[in-house]
Amino acid sequence: MKIAIVGCGNMGQAYARSFRRYGLVKREDLLLIVRRDQVDPDLDRSGTVSRVIDGSISGCDVVIIAVKPQDHATVAPALASLLRPDQVVLSIMAGITIARLQRDLVHRTVVRAMPNAPAQIGLGITAYATGTELNMRQTLMVEQLLNSTGRAVHLEHEGHLDPVTALSGSGPAYFFHIVRTMIEAGLGLGLEPHVANALVKQTMLGSYHLMEHADRSPDELIKAVMSKGGTTEAAFRVLEAGRMAETLTQAIEAASRRATELSGS
Ligand SMILES: NC(=O)c1ccc[n+]([C@@H]2O[C@H](COP(=O)([O-])OP(=O)(O)OC[C@H]3O[C@@H](n4cnc5c(N)ncnc54)[C@H](OP(=O)(O)O)[C@@H]3O)[C@@H](O)[C@H]2O)c1
Repeated sequence: MKIAIVGCGNMGQAYARSFRRYGLVKREDLLLIVRRDQVDPDLDRSGTVSRVIDGSISGCDVVIIAVKPQDHATVAPALASLLRPDQVVLSIMAGITIARLQRDLVHRTVVRAMPNAPAQIGLGITAYATGTELNMRQTLMVEQLLNSTGRAVHLEHEGHLDPVTALSGSGPAYFFHIVRTMIEAGLGLGLEPHVANALVKQTMLGSYHLMEHADRSPDELIKAVMSKGGTTEAAFRVLEAGRMAETLTQAIEAASRRATELSGS
């Protein structure tokens, strides 16, 4: 398989690293297109670095577009004249619809994906939708590539990428916010910073694994931690009074609405 990655920032580099780590592509078959003059030596070790979008793109089975959405307008015309019909274009740009990609790239076989930040360490989740039916080989290629950065989920409806963006795309930031707030609360109660940090982070890690291993719903797990008249119940009385569940739901709905606005659909 030959792959080109256009734009090697956080995500482009993460993709290059994952593909190489899992042996999905040979160094000489990975074309990395950058804009900056200074190139990270790690990037140089992953693939062939180029500063121009040129004919070498035409030899690739998959072309990944990992530039910011605002750079799409510059990148698309350069790619449009070079793409062959049997190539798969995989875009991870937030908010750029399949219809727009197909129009601007003058290309049918387009996949639009929404990864998230943990993809940078191989623990991401990426939902994707396709413009036209991909053949078996192309579908396997895309799944294999996305799975190397974590897990991949196929969506029947492109419109579902908006709630996906709100849940898993923005989700890491909600998690970091909760972690930060809990650490700060611990500090406020007099704990040493290293103690508060360790307690909160290990609690998050342990709770995640408990949820994965125990055959119980989040609701049942909450009840298992909570005893009548105890500390957790006291905490939940405050969370309910502050309507935390409703606030989080509204936040996710707002993110989904914003994703819809940004994609102009
Ligand atoms: N980061 C996330 O968690 C996340 C999650 C979901 C989706 N995404 C999507 O992933 C895409 C990339 O995000 P990112 O966080 O990796 O952004 P980033 O770190 O800013 O990377 C984008 C890279 O594209 C390069 N670039 C721009 N125009 C170019 C061109 N004409 N030719 C070659 N390279 C070019 C930029 O170069 P310069 O260094 O010169 O600017 C930069 O290195 C975005 O569209 C975003 O919507 C990101």
